[in-house]
Amino acid sequence: MTERVRFGYVGCGFMAQKVHIPNFRSISECEFLAIAEVRERLGRKVQAKYGIPRFYGSHLELADDPDIDAVGVSAPFALQGEIARDLLSAGKHVFMEKPMAVSIEQAERILAASKAKRSRLMVAYMKRYDAGNELVKNLISNYRKNSELGRIILARNHGFCGEWVCNIDTPMEVTDEKPPEPPIVKPKWLPNEYLSSYIGYLQQYTHNVNLLRWFLDAGDRVAVKYVDFDEDGMTGIVIFDMNGVRATIESGQISHYRWDEVTEVYFQHGWIKAWAPPLLLKNVPAELEVYKAGGVQEFIRPIPKPMWTWSYKREAEHFIHCILSGKPFCSSGEDTLTDVRVLEDVYRLYLKDKGIL
Ligand SMILES: NC(=O)c1ccc[n+]([C@@H]2O[C@H](COP(=O)([O-])OP(=O)(O)OC[C@H]3O[C@@H](n4cnc5c(N)ncnc54)[C@H](O)[C@@H]3O)[C@@H](O)[C@H]2O)c1
Repeated sequence: MTERVRFGYVGCGFMAQKVHIPNFRSISECEFLAIAEVRERLGRKVQAKYGIPRFYGSHLELADDPDIDAVGVSAPFALQGEIARDLLSAGKHVFMEKPMAVSIEQAERILAASKAKRSRLMVAYMKRYDAGNELVKNLISNYRKNSELGRIILARNHGFCGEWVCNIDTPMEVTDEKPPEPPIVKPKWLPNEYLSSYIGYLQQYTHNVNLLRWFLDAGDRVAVKYVDFDEDGMTGIVIFDMNGVRATIESGQISHYRWDEVTEVYFQHGWIKAWAPPLLLKNVPAELEVYKAGGVQEFIRPIPKPMWTWSYKREAEHFIHCILSGKPFCSSGEDTLTDVRVLEDVYRLYLKDKGIL
């Protein structure tokens, strides 16, 4: 491989135009060579706007381009994993939006392609590249090692969503072309009438499961203990055991204009809190607070370094740098298999408790 990654991108929708295409284009070690988009007029407009040398009307044509080393993908939920699999099978390294897959079966097919061709897959869980969250992870790890705050008694993620686009003003090309219907992919055991609420919960809260697992160094050591959802199959609370720690995720939405998400890790003698920034708000990482109880009680507000960075930009840089260096991804496809499994487990338990399964 050369000093630069020769890069292509599949999909010219919202995330591609507002976030990923501009971010990858800004990285000097990334040579942005090609895009693929099924809506041809849209794809050609984006190609012209950014001066991208090659356009393809299908990801398979891009997969056949021998000059491309790595590809980014953002497309409809169930489809983007199929696109990623075709690219991995063609020997391309892939950066893809979450969710990697909507069933374990689909996830395993994607990973088998990656293994067979030794092509690498990174899933874009941008929260793991937020400089504030990196600091939280280091603090948790240090406090667990030195026992200063005792053991962790609860990790809580409250994720009530909200406004996430933040008036991001990157101009966007539009079209009246209709995209083709994406394929229906689902776990075999899931009744059709629960598919839309399952996907709704999965596509949002896969972020929160992925983040908590990372904070708690849980890997695949995650069990779903309890699920309590409203009739909408989304609003409620799930209790997990993550690496021996009781962890909860509160899901739902109210008519609130900002992004409402906080993670709190309670030790016996203190806590760490991290407030997530609204997603597309550029250059604002998570904010932190550490509380230490005991003789001298104190609050600390650690400031992440580097300051004023955007998680989505950092994840793109991470991908390119790992491709060049051979270093492992912080959010690999292999690691993400656990998120897919855990999301299936949440919904299976929910439907069992309802008497549906
Ligand atoms: N990480 C985040 O914060 C975040 C936020 C929003 C969305 N997402 C993820 O991003 C993904 C895309 O979301 P979006 O809002 O950009 O969707 P979108 O519908 O705006 O864009 C998808 C694009 O893919 C194109 N497309 C469809 N089939 C194709 C094919 N076979 N080949 C090439 N292009 C094809 C469509 O024409 C469309 O332009 C979703 O899977 C979603 O989960 C992530």
